Amino acid sequence: MLSKKIEQALNKQVEVEAESSQFYLATASWVETEGFGGTTAFMYRHSNEERQHMLKLVKFINERGGKAIIPALTKPEAKYKSIHQVFENLLKHEMDVTNQINEVVHICLQEKDYTTHNIMQWYVSEQIEEEALARAVMDQLRLVGKDGSGMYMFDRDILKISADSAAEPGSA
Ligand code: FEO
Repeated sequence: MLSKKIEQALNKQVEVEAESSQFYLATASWVETEGFGGTTAFMYRHSNEERQHMLKLVKFINERGGKAIIPALTKPEAKYKSIHQVFENLLKHEMDVTNQINEVVHICLQEKDYTTHNIMQWYVSEQIEEEALARAVMDQLRLVGKDGSGMYMFDRDILKISADSAAEPGSA
């Protein structure tokens, strides 16, 4: 059975993951209209992953005797100056999510809720990978610069960057 404090913290995290899914969806839509097919696929896929993160928490809260709350969503930013700006925002966003997750972990320890703590470890590991991936993409962007042919290659290879990062869990 979840304590009220844990239930609240987890419901807050449901909101964070839902907002995260929206964030990626909004960026997917923007890059799609800019003609970056690879980056579009990357963003749509990630939006779905964030939705799965949210669902996992919804199910956990309900299974443990709490009540999951499905939140209202804020409208994400719809316009960006460049792909570079998209990924700068993305990294900042993921770092904020990491902080939120650390806060939930902290509350789990305070409440001595080791079951929820165990579940949250999956989120801790996931964030390490996501931040590493965002940094890897930004490194790639710095290398290619902003000219057309560089951006063409970046967009062609971005799914490979993500696949390579996923193949090396724990590598940062
Ligand atoms: Fe599920 Fe990247 O936060």
